[in-house]
Amino acid sequence: MELGSILQFLEDKTILVTGATGYLAKIFVEKILRVQPKVKKFYLLLRAADAKSAAERLRDEVIGKELFRVLREKHGASLQSFISEKVTPVAGDISYEDLGVKDSSLKDEMWREVDVVLNFAATTDFDERYDVALGINTQGALHVLNFAKKCVNVKMLVHVSTAYVCGEDAGLIPEQPYHMGMAKKGDSKVDINFEKKMVKEKINELKLEGVPEKEITSAMKDLGIERARLFGWPNTYVFTKAMGEMLLMNRKDTLPLVIIRPTMVASTYKEPFPGWIEGVRTIDSIIAGYGKGRVTCFISGPQSTLDVVPADMVVSAIIVAMVARAKQHPEIIYHLGSSLRNPVKFSNLHDFSFRYFSEHPWINKEGESVKIGKGIVLTSMSKFYMYMALRFLLPLKALQLLNMLLFKTYQDLYTALDRKVKLVMRLVDLYKPYVFFEGIFDDINTEKLRIIFKESCHETNIFDFDPTNIDWEDYMINVHIPGLVKIYDWQFTSSRRTITKLYIRSNESCLREVCESFLGPPTGMAESTSSDANIVSWDPCVLGMRKHKLLREDILPAMASNRKVQRLLNEFMDLFQMNCDPPVTEQMDTAPQAIDHKNSAQAAKEHEDPAPIITDEADHTQLAIDEVDLCPMVTDQVIQDSLDREAGS
Ligand SMILES: NC(=O)c1ccc[n+]([C@@H]2O[C@H](COP(=O)([O-])OP(=O)(O)OC[C@H]3O[C@@H](n4cnc5c(N)ncnc54)[C@H](OP(=O)(O)O)[C@@H]3O)[C@@H](O)[C@H]2O)c1
Repeated sequence: MELGSILQFLEDKTILVTGATGYLAKIFVEKILRVQPKVKKFYLLLRAADAKSAAERLRDEVIGKELFRVLREKHGASLQSFISEKVTPVAGDISYEDLGVKDSSLKDEMWREVDVVLNFAATTDFDERYDVALGINTQGALHVLNFAKKCVNVKMLVHVSTAYVCGEDAGLIPEQPYHMGMAKKGDSKVDINFEKKMVKEKINELKLEGVPEKEITSAMKDLGIERARLFGWPNTYVFTKAMGEMLLMNRKDTLPLVIIRPTMVASTYKEPFPGWIEGVRTIDSIIAGYGKGRVTCFISGPQSTLDVVPADMVVSAIIVAMVARAKQHPEIIYHLGSSLRNPVKFSNLHDFSFRYFSEHPWINKEGESVKIGKGIVLTSMSKFYMYMALRFLLPLKALQLLNMLLFKTYQDLYTALDRKVKLVMRLVDLYKPYVFFEGIFDDINTEKLRIIFKESCHETNIFDFDPTNIDWEDYMINVHIPGLVKIYDWQFTSSRRTITKLYIRSNESCLREVCESFLGPPTGMAESTSSDANIVSWDPCVLGMRKHKLLREDILPAMASNRKVQRLLNEFMDLFQMNCDPPVTEQMDTAPQAIDHKNSAQAAKEHEDPAPIITDEADHTQLAIDEVDLCPMVTDQVIQDSLDREAGS
C-alpha cells in the first residue's frame, strides 16, 4: 500500500473534532493548522451554552494557550483572520443526539462539508459518576458515529480510546477489537441497554426518596466501580470506554473506523516545542507530589513497566492512521505506547525524579527549596497497607482515643484526617491496577503503519511516532519534568481544570475587597433567587488576564494592614493552591462546593448548603499522603526498617 503525502491528503479537508478544549485534541488541531495551513476548515465541538460561549472557550482555552505560540509567531498579526477563516467553534455536547448542536443551519453545513470526524471527547476521571461516564464515553461515542454517518462526504471516523480498555490483562496485549457484550471476566455479557436502564431507574429512585445530590453523586460513583468490577474492569473510565468501542464496532456499518488506543500520554516530545503539558495526569501527580516533598513512598510492582507516550507522537500517529484508513488500509485498532519497543520502568521514573529534584528543588509557597529524600518503594499492596497502618492509621487511632478523653476537642481534626486517609485508600485502590500493571501493549498494527509510512511517505520528520527514538532519561529530566514544574508555576491559568469561574458571597465584604483588588469588579452575578442573590462571579478570561497578580507576594504587602483580609487572602490562595493540584476524584466535604459554570444559576439552586464563601468549577482536590502526617516520629526510616524486618521474617 502506498501512503503518499500526508500533507496533500490534509489539503482542502474539512475536519470535525470533538473534545476540542482537551489536551490531545488541541495538539491535533494546532499541528494540522501549522503543518498544513491549506486545510479547508475545522469544526471544533465545545461544550457551551451558545455560540458566543463556544467562541469564548475557543479563544481562551484553545487558541489562547501557549501551545499556539509557534503558530502565533508564524502568522503574527494575521493569526486572528487565519483562525477565523479556518476554525468554526460549535456549541454542543456529545452526550446528546446530533451532538447537541442546536443551530440547525450550522448542523446542515457540517453534514454537507465534513470529510473526517475525530472523537477526542471523554471524561477521563477514573471515578466518574456512572451515569455521566456512560453518557459521554459510551453513548457519546455512538452519537459521534451517528453524526459522522449523516455527513455525506465523510471518509472516516477516528475514535480515541485508551489502551487500558484491556482491564487488568497481563502479558502481551493484542490490538483486538471489543465486540458487543464481551466481558473481561465471568460468563455474563455486558448489556449496554440494561446498564443505561438500570442507571436511569436508580437515579429516579434516589430522587424520589429525596436523597441529596451529593449523595446521589457518591452512589453513582460507587455504582460505576461496582459494575466495572463485576465485568472485570478496574474502574468506571475504562469500562465505559470499552463499551464505547463495542458500540462503534457494532454499529459502524460501512463507515471506515479507526480506534486509537494510547497508553499514558505525557508532554510533547518535540512539537510544537518540547515539554508542553496541560493538567496534571496519571504519573505526573506522583512526580509533582514527590518534588513537593509530599509523596515519600512510591507504590509499584517490581516488573511494572511505565507505558508512556509523548502527546505529539500520539497526534502524529493519529494523523498517519487517518490517512492510511482513507487509502483503504484495513487496520482499525492501534495501540500507541512504548512498553514493547522502548520500555521505561517505574523504578526509572523514581530515579529520574530524584535526580531532577535533587538538582532543581521545588520552590514552595514560602520561597524555600523543598528537600527530597530517596523515598520508600513499596512493591506490594501488603507493604502499602503496612505503611499506611504505621504512618497514619495508628496515629489516627491515638487521636481518636485522645479525642474521646478530651470530650471531642479534636473532633474536627479527627474527622478531616480520617476522611483524608479514606480518600487516599480509595485512590490507591483505584490506581492499583496501573501501578501493578504487568501487561505489554503489542503494537503490530502500529508497527505495520510505521513501516508503510517510512517506505511510502517522505514526511517522516513531520509525523514522527516511533517510540524507539525516545531517550527516556533525556526526555524525563530535560523535557517532561521541567514541563510539569512549569505548569505548576502557571497553575492558575494553565488548564481548564484550574480556575474556570470564581464565585463568592458578595456580603463577605472583606473577601470581596480582596478579590476586587486584583480581579477588578465582578463580571457576573448569579441570577436572583432567594438563595443565591448574594453570589458574584468572575469569568475565566478575567482570571486569566489577572494571573500575574495572583501571586501571594504581590498581593500581601498591599493587604498587610488588614489582618482579616490577610487571613481571608491566605485562605483564598490556599484554596486555589488546592484546587489547582493534580485532579483526583473524590470531593471532600470540607472542600468548597463546585458550581458548574455552564449553568451556574441552576447549580446554585440545586446546591443545598448555604453557598460557600469561595468556590470554583473544579471539584478536584489534591491529597498527597503526607498531608495526613499525624506523627512525625514515625519517620520513613522507621517504616523502611519495619518493612525490611517484615521481608526478612
Ligand atoms: N491523556 C491521556 O493520558 C490519555 C491516555 C489514553 C487515552 N486518552 C483518550 O484521549 C482522549 C483525549 O484525552 P485528553 O487527555 O485530551 O482528555 P481531556 O484533556 O480530559 O479532554 C477531554 C475533552 O472532552 C470534552 N468533553 C467531555 N465531555 C464532553 C461532552 N459530553 N461533550 C463534548 N465534549 C466533552 C472536554 O470538554 P470540557 O472542556 O467541556 O470538559 C474536553 O475537551 C480521550 O478520549 C481519552 O480517553 C487520553
